[in-house]
Amino acid sequence: MTLPSKVSGVQEGSDDEAIVSRTKKKTSAACLLVLVASVAACERHSASPLAVAATAAHSSVSVQDRIAHELLEASPLADPADAKARDEAAERLTAAQDLLGAFGERVLWGGFDPQKRYDPKANTVTELSPIVWAKVYLSTFEFPGPYEVRREGPYTVLEIAASFRDGLDSGDYPYPFWHSAKKWHAYVNTRALLLVFEHDRLLAAYRRPAPDSEGAAARNWDSRWRWTDAEGHERPRVALFTYLLSPDNPWLTRLDRAYRDLEVEFRGNNCVSCHSPDNPAKASPLLLLDFPNQALVARHTLVETLRGNKMPPADPKAHKEAGVADSAVREQLIVLAEEFRRDADAALAFERTHPPATSPVSEAQPK
Ligand code: HEC
Repeated sequence: MTLPSKVSGVQEGSDDEAIVSRTKKKTSAACLLVLVASVAACERHSASPLAVAATAAHSSVSVQDRIAHELLEASPLADPADAKARDEAAERLTAAQDLLGAFGERVLWGGFDPQKRYDPKANTVTELSPIVWAKVYLSTFEFPGPYEVRREGPYTVLEIAASFRDGLDSGDYPYPFWHSAKKWHAYVNTRALLLVFEHDRLLAAYRRPAPDSEGAAARNWDSRWRWTDAEGHERPRVALFTYLLSPDNPWLTRLDRAYRDLEVEFRGNNCVSCHSPDNPAKASPLLLLDFPNQALVARHTLVETLRGNKMPPADPKAHKEAGVADSAVREQLIVLAEEFRRDADAALAFERTHPPATSPVSEAQPK
């Protein structure tokens, strides 16, 4: 079977350069139609492109193609309320070698705006540790099949049809996306993900919504970002280090403690008033400090920022200079941030050298 990426090109028999320029001119709706139209076909023949990927020599298949196949294998269509299917997808995504190999220091993540296009600097994005993005965020999507790899200016873009798992328990999402009806709606109506690469390094990932999106079933938010459920379990469970790291990671307990100590100071110094999902300071990239594993991306910059006394930012209206005013408090913050950095680096290094054993795709049928 011809890869879906070639559908438009083959029909019109033009060279790669022409495919690129035509794709650029396409509206998002038209682009999506190409994807949607091939969903059914690809589902029926899904074994075929996977087999191609498995046997193809690495040199002849682009890294984006290989990553697309990893996503298809790791997170196929399933019941959107099936937490087990999600957890298994999360495990497989963090063992996907080509995806792991494309990771840099962080992944920038946000909604796709056709006007603003691919440059993360032009968009409002959240920064995440790549492994956190893959395990906690990417795993909330299922990949039905079609995808396309194309050039967009300086970037290589992998656009892959995606369907959001909208039926999970509240504690299964990285944070309550439904704190804003608009944000929840945007996730639920995702039809494709756009993975943006610069020199084969994954730079950013965007959610592309359906062109005519319907309203998503609302969820009520009780104003808590994190909570404890009726059985006394901390939620969201996927935001914890226990979800991210393997149970035998010797740094797990230490890292968790280091974060908890730091968190007390984040609250005491009002850091989380800005570094939270509602992003009142309109920062981009937004750094989330309020969720244990999502704070990992800051493990290095945190120390630098505190040493430079750059946070909280200056507030000219209130005649406040940047930084933590009390130097003893700041020193304490720096010590805790250094511990967090050390334990986090060690914990992540352990994960890299001890990849989890992954389970094969379970037989459960989509609803
Ligand atoms: C008034 C809102 C506000 C408060 C309060 C605040 N920050 Fe920030 N922070 C920002 C914004 C906006 C940026 C991004 C722009 C910048 O670098 O100035 C940022 C950037 C950062 C960065 C660098 C981001 C990166 O890419 O890693 C770190 C680290 C950070 N803040 C930590 C803290 C800590 C720790 C505190 C509490 C002591 C704090 N911030 C309090 C708004 C805030």
